[in-house]
Amino acid sequence: MAIKHFLQFRDFDPGELDYLFARARVIKDRFKRYVKHHPLADRTLVMIFEKASTRTRLSFEAGMQQLGGAAIYLNTRDSQLGRGEPVEDAAEVISRMCDIVMIRTFEQDIIERFAAHSRVPVVNGLTNEYHPCQILADIFTFIEHRGSIRGRNVAWIGDSNNVCNTWLQAAELLDFNVRVSTPPGYEVEPDRAGLVGTGHFEQFSDPMKACEGADLVTTDVWTSMGFEAENDERRKAFADWRVDADMMRVARPDALFMHCLPAHRGEEVDADVIDGPQSVVWDEAENRLHAQKALMEYLLLGRLDD
Ligand code: CP
Ligand code: NVA
Repeated sequence: MAIKHFLQFRDFDPGELDYLFARARVIKDRFKRYVKHHPLADRTLVMIFEKASTRTRLSFEAGMQQLGGAAIYLNTRDSQLGRGEPVEDAAEVISRMCDIVMIRTFEQDIIERFAAHSRVPVVNGLTNEYHPCQILADIFTFIEHRGSIRGRNVAWIGDSNNVCNTWLQAAELLDFNVRVSTPPGYEVEPDRAGLVGTGHFEQFSDPMKACEGADLVTTDVWTSMGFEAENDERRKAFADWRVDADMMRVARPDALFMHCLPAHRGEEVDADVIDGPQSVVWDEAENRLHAQKALMEYLLLGRLDD
């Protein structure tokens, strides 16, 4: 059987995504009731981090333990990965010693090369281009609060980064719309986002216009990891792209607010929005755990109906 990877959102079809959202619900419910769920007993996850993380590391490591398996953490600083070992060689070796690999790295090309030489499933834990596990959790969170995301409008305010690109791929697959507003010069690049062009996305120069009638308003840091040298320039360029109470007011009255975290209050979002009643950021963070447990179970065991 061909190995299945999750390197970008479109590696799954809509049927697989719907299965994962339903399965995450089952797994979350068992977790909340302390019902033992150990389908991955004796399986090992290796997590490779070339960038910092709190949520991704914790949710994968705790998640694998909760599924009955073990997780091993590697980072660039104290492994041979930081000393120039070719990624293809690392993939050959690492994938002989474990059952599944999660990687957080820089260019998407690095994880693609790793996956091409891996004997086991590889999961993207964030690259410069994509953050598919985040959007799996975000859509699961939306469904929990508001039901199906099909036909809904998501407003993305700020940088057209890895998280934005993944929302755009998800919209094409799951048939909802993303209304993006970025400062000039930071617009979405459809090729880099991996879009096929199904007409599920619109760009707006005015962030208020993007938020009008939205079911969900979401944003992310102005400067992603790896782009720190652009920080000062970006602070100036993005000053009018802070999600505030006025933007939430033009969205639907029941609109949710999401942020993948970590957040900078007073930069990309005002404190009264992220800490306000429409914000579901803590559920969103928690759901990384449940969604990724469903993901790892699916990649290793396929669909289960128990
Ligand atoms: N949202 C997210 O991926 O958080 P971490 O960088 O803490 O993993
Ligand atoms: N866009 C951010 C997400 C962090 C979880 C980054 O890549 O740094």
